Amino acid sequence: MTTNLFSHCDILDTEQFSRDDLELILDYSHRIHKSDRSSLSKLLDKYILASLFFEASTRTRLSFETAMHRLGGKVITTVGFQFSSINKGESLYDTMKMIEAYADIVVIRHPTEGSSHLAADASSIPLINAGDGVAQHPTQALLDLYTIFAEKSNIEGLRIAFVGDLKYGRTIHSLIQLLCHYKVELVLISPADLSLPEQYLKNIRESELNFIESEDLKDILDCDVVYVTRIQEERFTHRSDYERLKDSYTLNRDFLQLSPKLNELLIMHPLPRVKELSTDLDDLPNAAYFRMAHYGVSVRMALLLLCLQVSLP
Ligand code: CP
Repeated sequence: MTTNLFSHCDILDTEQFSRDDLELILDYSHRIHKSDRSSLSKLLDKYILASLFFEASTRTRLSFETAMHRLGGKVITTVGFQFSSINKGESLYDTMKMIEAYADIVVIRHPTEGSSHLAADASSIPLINAGDGVAQHPTQALLDLYTIFAEKSNIEGLRIAFVGDLKYGRTIHSLIQLLCHYKVELVLISPADLSLPEQYLKNIRESELNFIESEDLKDILDCDVVYVTRIQEERFTHRSDYERLKDSYTLNRDFLQLSPKLNELLIMHPLPRVKELSTDLDDLPNAAYFRMAHYGVSVRMALLLLCLQVSLP
């Protein structure tokens, strides 16, 4: 009897992971991140990745495609509805039935909540959700978790602040579910209209984590990690709501001078940023948001291997 390396074929949301899964993913990501890449360069040379991005992306698409290339695999891609037959009225279900003839694994981003589950139901090959509307972005959360581990050496015991759009921020939804596996404290900072949805508050309560909800940016000052997010114009139904909320917070160097942990506070952002994170923070050694792109490639290499049941040497 063979034992599967990884208990999942698809990565659809962060709720699916156990603590053991997370330890395996962190271990694979860390070994890849520290490795001499030449030993990995043929591991997926018999595999093709279909990269389907029906919503804008820079980091997620390029890092998955880079990850596949670094493992020796090949990539086929379609970007935007206008360059796929969905533009002619083809359903996502039919599209996914076609893709399994062309590729061995698929990464999909789509603007509709729940679309990754529909796509996975249609497809017999492993499928990875690269962001489905306002719902989830599980691989971003895994790279966020790995960033905290890599930069802080440990996740347990940290006080972690989330700032910005907690309502529509899918990266926040996903990361909070992962952090529920660790004994951390959470500080949730947002305008009242963009507070964390009840389903994620329920996850936090059920995990018995200490947390506060606040509208005051000063509550980041005694934290170990701050995860800043953009107020996302594309998620609002009414433009007037976006205009009212878009400038709610700006984290800059003057503000951080107030922190006793100026040089220790790990500053993260999934990017892209607009005005919520000042460029005058970029040269702080603890500003991790550009390093996260490097961590993201290692994590996505780990996920491609694990979903395809290919072991590290
Ligand atoms: N963090 C993130 O998902 O970035 P992209 O939208 O550029 O992929």
